[in-house]
Formats: sequence, C-alpha cells, structure tokens
Amino acid sequence: ANGIFTFDPGFTSTASCESKITYIDGEKGQLLHRGYSIEELASKSDYLEVCYLLLNGELPSAEQKAEFVSTVKNHTMVHEQIRNFFNGFRRDAHPMAIMCGVVGALSAFYHDSLDINDSTHRDVTAFRLIAKMPTIAAMCYKYGLGQPLMYPRNDLGYAENFLHMMFGNPCEDSEISPTLARAMDRIFILHADHEQNASTSTVRLAGSSGANPFACIAAGISALWGPAHGGANEAVLKMLEEIGDVSQIETFIAKAKDKNDPFKLMGFGHRVYKNYDPRATVMRESCHEVLAELGVNDPQLELAMKLEEIALNDPYFKEKKLFPNVDFYSGIILKAIGIPTSMFTVIFALSRTVGWIAHWNEMISNPYKIGRPRQLYTGETERSFVPVNERK
Ligand code: SDX
Repeated sequence: ANGIFTFDPGFTSTASCESKITYIDGEKGQLLHRGYSIEELASKSDYLEVCYLLLNGELPSAEQKAEFVSTVKNHTMVHEQIRNFFNGFRRDAHPMAIMCGVVGALSAFYHDSLDINDSTHRDVTAFRLIAKMPTIAAMCYKYGLGQPLMYPRNDLGYAENFLHMMFGNPCEDSEISPTLARAMDRIFILHADHEQNASTSTVRLAGSSGANPFACIAAGISALWGPAHGGANEAVLKMLEEIGDVSQIETFIAKAKDKNDPFKLMGFGHRVYKNYDPRATVMRESCHEVLAELGVNDPQLELAMKLEEIALNDPYFKEKKLFPNVDFYSGIILKAIGIPTSMFTVIFALSRTVGWIAHWNEMISNPYKIGRPRQLYTGETERSFVPVNERK
C-alpha cells in the first residue's frame, strides 16, 4: 500500500532477474563472480583481471590479459574538451555531483558513432569507461583542490596510475607505495559487482530503453550516491566521528534500534546478506594489514571494531540479522591511503563501473524489452471535475 511495485512480465523479461555474472547467497554470506569466490579473487587476482572475468565470463590467459591491459591503457585519457566541464563547477562541489555530470557528458562525445547493437562498439564502450573512470575521478579531486588536473601514465599499473593522478603533481615524479597500490586494487575488486543492487538495476532499466551506455552509467552513479547504498562508506566515517569514543557506542546502538529515530548504523545491514558480507571480512583483514604496513594507528579502527563487537552481540541486531557490510571498513582503509571522505563514493563508482557495464552488455546482447515496473494503485477511484467556483 506504500507504492509497492510488482514487476510486469515485460520488466522481468529484460533479464533483469536473470544473469550469469554474479551469484550471492545471503544466508551463507557467499559472493561469486562467474563462479569464483570474492575471497579468492581479492587475494589472488587483480582488478583488471576481474574486469576481464566479469565482461567475458572466463579468467584471461596471459596473452589475453596482456592485450586487455594494453587496450585499457590506450583509453585512459579523456577528450581535452572534457576538462572544460570542470570549470563550470564550484570548487567545493561534491565530487559525486561532478562525476555524474562529466560521465553523462561522455555520451555527447561518443553518441553519433555508437551502435549498441554492434558488439565491437559495446567492447570499445567498456574499455573507454573502465579506462577513463580513474582519470575522471582523480580530476574531480584535483579540481576541488585547485591543483592541475593530472594526465594518466602508461608505464603504471591501473591502481598505481589512479593514485599517481590523485596525489602526483606535474612538478615532480610521484612515488606510489606498492602497499597502497595493492590495497587500492583490492578495494576496486571488492566493489566491482554485486548482482541486482539499486545502481545496477538503474543502469539496466535505463539501458532497456536503448539509451546511450554513458548516460546509463551516469544514472547508475546517481543511484549509487545515496547513503543507503554507495554513499554509506562516507556516512560510516561521519558516524564514527559523531560517536567519538567507545563510551558513546551504546547510545548510538540504542538510537539505531529506536523505531522513532531515523538513525541507522551505517555500514551495517543488507537487503540480501543475512550473514557476514564476505567483502567486509576481506576488507577488515586488509584494514589491519594496510594500517600495520603503514604504521598507522587509527583510533577509528579500534572504535569500529568495538562497535562491531557490541552490535553483533546485541539481541536486536541478532534478531534482524544485521552484520557489517562492504562499507563498514572500506572508509578506514581509504582514509589511511590519504583519500578524503568526499571521494569514497567516487571510488565505489569507479570500481562498480565494470559491473554496471557487464550487466548492461549482458542485457543488450540478448533479446530484451523495455523495463516497465507496475504499481499497486492506492489513489482515488474515478470522479467528476468540479469547477473552481463550486469547490469548498
Ligand atoms: C550497499 O544491494 C547491494 O548489493 C548493495 C551493495 C552493493 O555492493 O551494491 O552491497 C552496497 O549498498 C551496502 C549497504 C550500504 N548501506 C548502509 O550501510 C546503510 C545502513 N544500512 C541500512 O540502511 C540498511 O541495512 C539497508 C538499506 C542496507 C538495507 O535496508 P533494508 O532493506 O530495510 O534491510 P532489512 O530489510 O534487512 O532490514 C531489516 C530490519 C528493518 O527493520 P524492520 O522493518 O524489520 O523493523 O532491520 C532494520 C530495518 O529498519 N535495519 C537497521 C539497519 N539496517 C536494517 N536498523 C538499524 N541499523 C541498520 N543499519
């Protein structure tokens, strides 16, 4: 009765509920990409190899991987006129607002020449987006600082190149720590895809009308921004700052349980996982490794671990099956790498682009119909018009 949606056959036939890309077992806390567990991929693979897997269904041979990496490298620059878009934004604009605008604008550069029914055009679109998202993300950050927008370098790895464009400057060579590059790459992997979440469903629904794929990805970025979805990583850090120290944890747990209080424990709960989000487990382990290797002693990590311990032993959270999700620890690692909270969701969007594109491609390359969710109507029954001078 509150606008509950039921999908008509037309919507489900866009394969929006059928996919071969990612499998989640929410009860077991299992996440597989094309049959490979997220735990194995996070520890043994790298982001571009996972991109190949999500897009093509198989892990690449050494030769296929070399060709894929080389092709991505050759698409990392953006059209010089894209740089002009940034000047239209205030310097203090949220980077996600800039990201939505600039990625949507890519459709103006690749519209006329793009036939989505041609698989080679779809492949180039995938390469362009995977390659350009780090460049655009770093430009969003640099623009806010008033620093020069950095160009990508083809001699660097994917994550290394992103950190170079984020923290480097034209006056000196940037030295990127292998520890940070490896941690960044693992974060990219952990956010790459997650089945039919809100932003991926947005991309599929937009794509089902035949819209330009760059515009569809911009729609996905907009959906991801919300604090209930991809904006949660930024919200977790703000929540930890608000909690302040361990003595306040019980107060905030009580607020999270109070039905009259809109406060939710950020980084906790999930529509699908009713067990640990396996990505949160990997993220927590990575958190300890990165902070130890960097020699960082972040009190917010201690606070987060204590909050997790108390929440997991709380009867309400147990009964509702609320566990930490991917966003609970990611912000602490990103902060240790030197990324500001305003950029956390931008990095989520950068990572998730391959998942969005893989789902878009899977739908477009098979027979599909436009999505058309139906509704449960709860409004007025038909009635006659009343002229304004006869109304009460
Ligand atoms: C992501 O879909 C995806 O796959 C998303 C994602 C991806 O990779 O794409 O995994 C990424 O979005 C992770 C989620 C990040 N969001 C947050 O961490 C924000 C905090 N979490 C909550 O807003 C919430 O858990 C949601 C939005 C994530 C899920 O909300 P639901 O669908 O209402 O969860 P539910 O049905 O399991 O909730 C059961 C109950 C509800 O109460 P009742 O209606 O039964 O009385 O638990 C309550 C919820 O209100 N609840 C919480 C809570 N999360 C759910 N109560 C307090 N704190 C929380 N965090």
